[in-house]
Amino acid sequence: MTFDVSAVRALYPALADGHAYLDGAAGTQVPVSVIDAIADAYRAGIGNLGGAFAASRRSDLIVSQARAAVADLVGGTADGVVFGPSATALAYRMSEALSRQWTTDDEIVVSRLDHDSNIRPWIQAAGRVGALVRWAEIDPATGELPAKQYAELVGPRTRLVAVTAASNAIGTRPDVASIAGYAHAVGALCYVDGVHATPHVPVDIAALGADFYATSAYKWSGPHVAAVVADPALLETVWPDKLAPSSNAVPWRFERGTLPFADLAGVTAAVDHLAGLGTLGAADALAGATRRERILASMAAVEAHEAALFARLLDGIAKLGDVTVYGRAARRAPTAFFNVGAIDPEAVAEHLSAHGVNVWHGDNYAYELCQVLGLQSEGAVRAGIVHYNDDSDVDRLLSGVAEMAGG
Ligand SMILES: Cc1ncc(COP(=O)(O)O)c(C=O)c1O
Repeated sequence: MTFDVSAVRALYPALADGHAYLDGAAGTQVPVSVIDAIADAYRAGIGNLGGAFAASRRSDLIVSQARAAVADLVGGTADGVVFGPSATALAYRMSEALSRQWTTDDEIVVSRLDHDSNIRPWIQAAGRVGALVRWAEIDPATGELPAKQYAELVGPRTRLVAVTAASNAIGTRPDVASIAGYAHAVGALCYVDGVHATPHVPVDIAALGADFYATSAYKWSGPHVAAVVADPALLETVWPDKLAPSSNAVPWRFERGTLPFADLAGVTAAVDHLAGLGTLGAADALAGATRRERILASMAAVEAHEAALFARLLDGIAKLGDVTVYGRAARRAPTAFFNVGAIDPEAVAEHLSAHGVNVWHGDNYAYELCQVLGLQSEGAVRAGIVHYNDDSDVDRLLSGVAEMAGG
């Protein structure tokens, strides 16, 4: 499969401002197809769902197409796709609903590697019912989250294991399939935060063993909409707080109030954009393939493209003077978390911004991880590669850092 990064970049109007957008881990830019899909939905006229007129039927179609698209992206079932405003909001929603079934005899397991949105909602839900919280620890030297520790952490009382598919700070991709295996062996559920992983790798929630898989479209070239994907049969066993007249059906009963219809048209366009990346600018080697097959092939091409850029970034940074890179896990998303000497990460980000390089600074809500790494809320600088980045983005980052680090 090919990957034509110039052709990809031409699809993104925002990249024309000339900045090196290495802030994708906090949210990507959107291609023109997504912008058009959202604008076209509004232009065509959309109504609320379930009406007897054409504009309402257009919204019905937009929602069902978006569920099918997200299901294709992660290998799920359309009827198991629950939409919400953000992964954080959905984690709270799901933790509130699932914890109704927990008691003081129960336990949950969270990890220090996770973004706080896959930690705090579970701790707070456990606290309300008096369930015990156990912690999976990282190895601070490597940034790995060893799966073997779950053999001790998980037991007959465990109801839920929450774990990330990739750290949004240091990139570590833990062995989720093994961790989920420990959970399933005792009848517990595994809630996987796929927000950082989804833009970088082919995702198969069955292979991961994810009972719930959270993803946010704004991390993969879509609008600010999130989804949790689960088996509809599992969702049937869970009851959230809901309004009396709203649908009791799955997945509708988990969706509070009116969905953002135009944005959901953008979600479908974003999935189609990802599905097309592997054949862009080349003869269509996948003619006749399903969208799911195209996604798997395209995301494999994305993974290879990003891995080459990440290697360039890590090699370049290793040659600089006083730079500390956090985490060196064997399997990593292409996200670098580093400090330059003792310089405040915000000052580094400001310096890079003056060079037209967008990076994040701080703990990036990897709050527990930053405590373990001794970084606290000042955190570090985060440069995240996504599929529209190229060599020149990385080289500009390296020259900007070199000015501060020496070497
Ligand atoms: C790994 C990870 N999980 C969860 C979130 C929270 O996502 P949302 O902004 O959709 O709540 C983020 C956002 O940065 C993230 O990177």
